[in-house]
Amino acid sequence: MSRRILVTSALPYANGAIHLGHLVEYIQTDIWVRFQRMQGHEVHYVCADDTHGTPVMLRADAEGITPERLIERVWREHKRDFDGFGVGFDNYYSTNSPENRALCEAIYGALTAQDLIAVRSVEQFYDPVKAMFLPDRYIKGECPKCGAKDQYGDSCEVCGATYAPTELKNPYSTVSGAKPERRQSEHYFFKLSDPRCEAFLREFTQTSGTLQPEAANKMKEWLGEPGDSKLSDWDISRDAPYFGFAIPGTDGKKFFYVWLDAPVGYFGSFTHHVRSKNLDEKLLQDFLRPGGDTELVHFIGKDILYFHALFWPAMLKHAGFRTPTRIYAHGFLTVNGEKMSKSRGTFITAESYIRQGLNPEWLRYYYAAKLGPTMEDIDLNLEDFVARVNSDLVGKYVNIASRAATFLTKHFDGRLSSSQMLSKIDPVAVGERAEASKTIAEAYDAREYGKALREIMRIADGINQYVDLKKPWVLAKDEPQRDLLQAICSKCIFDFKMLSVFLAPVLPATARKVAQEFFGLERDFIWSDYNVYPEKINPYSHLTNRIDPKQIEALVAANRESLKPAAAAPHSQQRHAQHQENAVKAATQPETISIDDFTKIDLRVARIANAEHVEGADKLLKLTLDVGSLGTKQVFAGIKSAYDPEQLKGRLTVMVANLAPRKMKFGMSEGMVLAASGEAPGLYILSPDSGAQPGMRIK
Ligand code: MSP
Ligand code: ZN
Repeated sequence: MSRRILVTSALPYANGAIHLGHLVEYIQTDIWVRFQRMQGHEVHYVCADDTHGTPVMLRADAEGITPERLIERVWREHKRDFDGFGVGFDNYYSTNSPENRALCEAIYGALTAQDLIAVRSVEQFYDPVKAMFLPDRYIKGECPKCGAKDQYGDSCEVCGATYAPTELKNPYSTVSGAKPERRQSEHYFFKLSDPRCEAFLREFTQTSGTLQPEAANKMKEWLGEPGDSKLSDWDISRDAPYFGFAIPGTDGKKFFYVWLDAPVGYFGSFTHHVRSKNLDEKLLQDFLRPGGDTELVHFIGKDILYFHALFWPAMLKHAGFRTPTRIYAHGFLTVNGEKMSKSRGTFITAESYIRQGLNPEWLRYYYAAKLGPTMEDIDLNLEDFVARVNSDLVGKYVNIASRAATFLTKHFDGRLSSSQMLSKIDPVAVGERAEASKTIAEAYDAREYGKALREIMRIADGINQYVDLKKPWVLAKDEPQRDLLQAICSKCIFDFKMLSVFLAPVLPATARKVAQEFFGLERDFIWSDYNVYPEKINPYSHLTNRIDPKQIEALVAANRESLKPAAAAPHSQQRHAQHQENAVKAATQPETISIDDFTKIDLRVARIANAEHVEGADKLLKLTLDVGSLGTKQVFAGIKSAYDPEQLKGRLTVMVANLAPRKMKFGMSEGMVLAASGEAPGLYILSPDSGAQPGMRIK
């Protein structure tokens, strides 16, 4: 029976590059889509950039461009990366589209009519300099427990305490550095606590097959006991200025929160897919409205499960749309067993991978080998990656074709034996092929790609052993054995074709080359081709290389940001905050530094206890500085041209006290004194006003 499926991957944020973590999801989805298509099912695969929200707005601001221009540029980059990895969306769109706006307004209107929207006053941080409300993650301050500086509003990285953002001491806005105020404003809520939503979600999340078992259990926890629901209403509005869709009837003062319009973007992209390609309008009814027999399947990361399993279906249900048939959540990518890290060079962008000349299908293969149906994290071990690809793809799979094709081309003009001849030498194979096809197809459908590939490689091992046993290179020297040689090589090529069909969802470009160039088909493989005996082959041409470990070293080096502190890729719930925070920071750094950058410099008042010439140095004076509670420090200062040591003794000045000590030719220098200079000759050390004491902090 033919299935009709609308498949989505989560919409990546338009404020950062696609990296190998993202690709776990897009490759996983793409494999599933290609597999279903090969089975003859009707599949529509759509995605889009998730473009709205504060981070995009601030980043555009920092770059001095409009958000529209920013998201257009990022869209092109994302599209390029997905194309590069063979992720074959039918439509890659944007949430900032007319289709999406219309759908959001329709959904909001329907929810309002259902009395599922409430308006309430909310107190929030407000940045008086930027004149805007700020999400909590843009506020930092001192930890209320241990006093550590520059901590986020939810927890302290130094002592581990958790607290509310309002408890931070000396809070500041990370955008402007200003002291934030608390201000009231009216917000719109989707009434998730309404008994209708609760009842629907209990049923939806516990319907077998909709969620993975672990996800269904999580939902049970989040939903709480019946009659004692833990669901609270969901704040779906943000105040202007905001990059997003204005909420109808609010005079442009209120906007839909990005997480309201993002999932609607799935439908926006599908709508655009149908209309822009002049497909039958009825598809919109069939796939977006309830009552039909189509499926809606979402692939997502585990970090965004609650948006997809609670808010989104409840919204759809009560606005008269269809609800998701299945939500497949996957785990997070680690590299060499650890979170991706910029300092280690394991925060690898899709673009850099392609630029290094690595074959995207190697990564597709490796991810597939590691992917299963659960939400467990998956590890990209770079050594294992090289070993696995070289041994499986090159050593096992490709090897079969290159061994057998040579003989067929050389001695038989590329023609295979008759199929009768084949069944003589290989009588058991027919049942085995069907069996293998079934096992592998079931594994793909259940997203057990690792299992599918293990089965495929088991078969490849068997074929290679067969070749070793039959020794075609020996038969080739023996004229009377020619028929046997042809039959043995033909079997290998038939099996190679089968393996190519089974691998096609994972290796689409390789499979296309095999189908069209090697077997001379005028189309891509479909699943049933696995069992169609080929009559003829074209000469074998190279399919894929081995990975040289040096290529991986170069990739890691290209992604290493040695100057930045270890910015580990944040995980789970915190990830969104962190991700966007970093993006905004990266974009704003060139022009200004934040107050926390400045406070890293420990400036102190110092008394010059002693000053003397240094033998052999023509620019330096050796200073002994009394820094109060910090003790005494020895500093070599390049001020000999301007000062007589005697003049300096007893004076107060300013020093950087936390500069890493530096070993110089003449001894250790444990800091730096500050001096002013300009174009004209002359050098002037600083002096604090009278009353300042050695050791006082300058801030
Ligand atoms: N914009 C939201 C999704 C909106 S869907 C209506 C978002 N964007 S994202 O760019 O942060 O992530 C896109 C997808 O990639 C998410 O499903 C996320 O879980 C996944 N991944 C992002 N980093 C990942 C890893 N390091 N590992 C695996 N998947 C990762 O969330
Ligand atoms: Zn603390």
